[in-house]
Amino acid sequence: MRYFTHDSTLGLIVLLSLIAIIWRFSSLRLSIPCPTWLSWLVELDNPFLKNNSAREIIQHLALEPGMKVLDVGCGPGRLTIPVAKRIGPTGEVTAFDIQPGMLQRVQAKALAENLGNIQFIQGGVGDGKLGHNQYDRVLLVTVLGEISDRKTAMEEIFDSLKPGGILSVTEVIADPHFQRRNSVTRTANLVGFVEREFFGNRISFTINFEKT
Ligand SMILES: C[S@@+](CC[C@H](N)C(=O)[O-])C[C@H]1O[C@@H](n2cnc3c(N)ncnc32)[C@H](O)[C@@H]1O
Repeated sequence: MRYFTHDSTLGLIVLLSLIAIIWRFSSLRLSIPCPTWLSWLVELDNPFLKNNSAREIIQHLALEPGMKVLDVGCGPGRLTIPVAKRIGPTGEVTAFDIQPGMLQRVQAKALAENLGNIQFIQGGVGDGKLGHNQYDRVLLVTVLGEISDRKTAMEEIFDSLKPGGILSVTEVIADPHFQRRNSVTRTANLVGFVEREFFGNRISFTINFEKT
């Protein structure tokens, strides 16, 4: 029985690694969004990737009650829900995702937690669905690599932030769409963002950019 459990765990690790490798190489050519059926994987707060934990990311956002926050590529709401709690009923989080299935998962969680301060927008970032000078904070957590036109997406995010607002980008190597620090900074600088803070290391980091 012990051997069976051991073998199953090993098998699962090998399977997940294989999926990650195939996915990583496919994503170099195609922008494939993380499928809704894999959202359980997104929700795991991996203890080996501390910089990607919801708690750690939120800690670096300097959130205040009443703020307006946009969670781009919110997935199943790993960050949306705790952010909504932190900014309180006078604030508002916009959960934004290209996949309706992900937004449905956030909606179910918001209902279960009785949270009324979450707005939902379905669409792709860069497609012109976001307003102008709306948000105090924008989150882009393990999403950038899934976006095909990153410059246009960054331009829309820049425009949607209030002057002085912060875009927080998190990347982790375990994500098949991982983007290196240089690549993230280059795209952000191109549209006018200024880097303000860096947390983490080369393989797992958060960068906070300001719209000056
Ligand atoms: C790896 S998941 C990350 C989810 C969440 N940010 C987190 O860290 O828990 C990436 C999410 O980005 C979404 N996504 C991919 N491309 C997108 C785009 N162009 N516009 C909006 N969302 C997108 C996917 O549907 C998926 O839910």
